Amino acid sequence: MKILITGGAGFIGSHVVRRMVKRYPNYHIYNLDALTYAGNLENIKDIESFKNYTFIKGDITNAEFLNSLFLKYKFSSVIHLAAESHVDRSIIDPLAFVKTNVIGTVNLLNASKELWKDDFTNKLFYHVSTDEVYGSLENCGLFTENTSYKPNSPYAASKASSDHFVRAYGETYNLPFIISNCSNNYGPNHFPEKLIPLFINNIINKKSLPVYGDGNYTRDWLYVEDHAKAIDLAFHKGKTGETYNIGGFNEWKNIDLVKLLCKQMDTILNRPGGESKKLITFVKDRPGHDLRYAIDATKINEELDWKPSVTFEEGLLKTINWYLENQEWLKNVTSGSYVEYYSKMYNQKA
Ligand code: NAD
Ligand code: DAU
Repeated sequence: MKILITGGAGFIGSHVVRRMVKRYPNYHIYNLDALTYAGNLENIKDIESFKNYTFIKGDITNAEFLNSLFLKYKFSSVIHLAAESHVDRSIIDPLAFVKTNVIGTVNLLNASKELWKDDFTNKLFYHVSTDEVYGSLENCGLFTENTSYKPNSPYAASKASSDHFVRAYGETYNLPFIISNCSNNYGPNHFPEKLIPLFINNIINKKSLPVYGDGNYTRDWLYVEDHAKAIDLAFHKGKTGETYNIGGFNEWKNIDLVKLLCKQMDTILNRPGGESKKLITFVKDRPGHDLRYAIDATKINEELDWKPSVTFEEGLLKTINWYLENQEWLKNVTSGSYVEYYSKMYNQKA
């Protein structure tokens, strides 16, 4: 099998690439990534010399480049993760999200359709999506695979659009596909613009922790390696044409999560109890902020026997320790364009 994985230098993609390269030595894994601010070859340094692995720098918005790449390597499957992934950035620059998430996905679908023509035997387009396509929940209920789409941010709208294109290529051209919609991931290699890694970095540096609004927003958190495992399972054993919801059965209000993070970090850093909590600062809310996400992952649990293996407390400790042991990584990604992003977003120096 020759598998093209897109976005494999990013957060989740790097864990998926590592898992596939190590578990399946008889597959060849091609990692296509444009290395945007979120892509980092350091994330996958440990596997760069594996014989069944090739990195390709390239942009999925370039259709011509993609078509020639597919003709050259004759991929048998695609696992598509490349995306602009941060909600706050999508509020500032929605078009960048349309370009990569919508046009980039359609380019990949076209390149797959052209290469595979009408012989779809053992071919699969696996699309990695998000629970944000379903919109926001009130205080009860869960997103199932049948929940209708109601995206609220430009990011969510671009991912919803890409999901629709994938499904439409299945209906119209019989392109075999699987879509999975996952909840919030956390773990090593997470770029420090998202809540957990941003706050870990700020706690290390004793900087303020900017909690949006009143902090009573709820997310369902999943350790990134459990997501990679779910993708592996659904890719190999899932039914084509199906959607699988993936989640941690692990809901946290932001403010409670931040307090737990502060407590764990005070212990690990030998700081007096309650010290990091003093850094919490309530700031202006995110426009169109979704109140609550929560996934019903019963289908993947019952059909494919998947469930999260890491508890939140364990996962958070592993994550904090990874950032403390990889401060060079953190320093590298928080220099350069990050400084400008941070001061624009939070009105203060990074
Ligand atoms: P990320 O931002 O960490 O990584 C995205 C990767 O895509 C980067 O390596 C970047 O260089 C690459 N990329 C961006 N634009 C590209 C382009 N035009 N051409 C080629 N490569 C490009 O994202 P992530 O958090 O790892 O998310 C990966 C996927 O999983 C996304 O599709 C996202 O929507 C989805 N997802 C993320 C989460 C989450 O909590 N992070 C949850 C559910 C689903
Ligand atoms: O649900 C899946 C989605 O989870 C993925 O599709 C996205 O790619 C991923 O970025 C994530 O989106 P969120 O918007 O939920 O993640 P983020 O880490 O940006 O924010 C989590 C919560 O924390 C959210 O309610 C906003 C809040 N927040 C975030 C930041 C960055 C703050 O209060 N302060 C902050 O500085």
